[in-house]
Amino acid sequence: MTTIVPVSLADRSYEVAIAPGALEDAGARLARYAPRGRFVVVTDAHVAALHLPRLTASLEAAGIAVEPITLPAGESTKSWAHLEQLTDRLLELGVERSDKVIALGGGVIGDLVGFACSILKRGCGFVQVPTTLLAQVDSSVGGKTAINTKAGKNLIGAFHQPAHVLIDPDTLDTLPPRERAAGYAEVVKYGLIDDPAFFDWCEANGSALLAGDGAARVHAIATSIAAKARIVEADERETAGVRALLNLGHTFGHALEAETGFSERLLHGEGVACGMALAFRFSAAQGLCPEADAERVSRHLAAAGLPTTLKAAGVDASGETLVAHMLHDKKMEGNRLPFLLARGIGQTFLDKNVSLAEVAAFLDAERARG
Ligand code: NAD
Ligand code: GLY
Repeated sequence: MTTIVPVSLADRSYEVAIAPGALEDAGARLARYAPRGRFVVVTDAHVAALHLPRLTASLEAAGIAVEPITLPAGESTKSWAHLEQLTDRLLELGVERSDKVIALGGGVIGDLVGFACSILKRGCGFVQVPTTLLAQVDSSVGGKTAINTKAGKNLIGAFHQPAHVLIDPDTLDTLPPRERAAGYAEVVKYGLIDDPAFFDWCEANGSALLAGDGAARVHAIATSIAAKARIVEADERETAGVRALLNLGHTFGHALEAETGFSERLLHGEGVACGMALAFRFSAAQGLCPEADAERVSRHLAAAGLPTTLKAAGVDASGETLVAHMLHDKKMEGNRLPFLLARGIGQTFLDKNVSLAEVAAFLDAERARG
């Protein structure tokens, strides 16, 4: 069965198709995006070994030729060097503006390929075939593409919507548990933003989802993508204060990721999980949100194996140091750093008047609590 979630963005509209086993019949599903009978498929070394052969076989069985490009796995692939390597190879292969390049992999491949396609011949198309939970519930949809540079993460990029997103939840069978949990943080995020009933669902079904339950996976992915689509439709370029809600936990999380060197020490989703727990505790400390809600958020994330304290995130730094990392974040507005805070579960809002001194003092107290 295929669940379709539409993303309605005028002439940039597309569908997200969620179907267990979709890689097996990707040829039939994607043929219309290869009018010249050929796909360039970009992936990383891990995914190439695990899932590229099935995708290739299915495309070839539908009469579509496949040109694979395999890049190293890992965040460091989102770089100028790999962007140059990838765009050079796409040009060598004669990719035209009317072609669609397939991005098969997690958020790293999706972000890099999307950005390469946004600039190749002033813009060619691409299809996302995400294979991590994080990419299936978040990064493959919405058109944010980017690479990292010396100055920071995702600072060079473009908005470039995919032509289609094909999600095969079965690809998650091979995803390491730690990566699954990291992606799950982004699932919980949608409940915390504005859907308390979905947070209830997460509490009841999160462990089944993480253990690989097929129905739970499809429900979580479809609900997450529908939520993301609604937000992106309302504010595609993050200018109206709506899309910013998707960054819940990201300002605190960014500081933790920066402090741990954007490395394997703390995966992006782990930083987001801890960041969301901190955002709720800070909201409670400010008297905005019931303590009980903040405790409930931390309890659920911790039960999923995610860090919810500085100590669990492996961070031992002062509030001042962590706030300094936040100030390097791209979400600065003039001299102000907008924070996503909460009045309760499902009641997130953007606060542009948070005192950085209070944030630093709060983080010092968090550090002291161990
Ligand atoms: P990733 O792409 O690095 O994938 C994580 C690891 O899992 C990699 O080692 C990868 O090779 C491996 N992998 C992928 N699929 C697999 C599978 N099915 N089985 C086994 N291993 C598999 O990381 P990610 O967590 O998917 O994405 C993180 C990136 O996404 C970051 O760069 C972040 O900035 C970006 N991101 C972008 C957006 C957006 O809107 N564009 C949103 C959130 C995050
Ligand atoms: N993941 C944040 C966004 O897409 O806006």
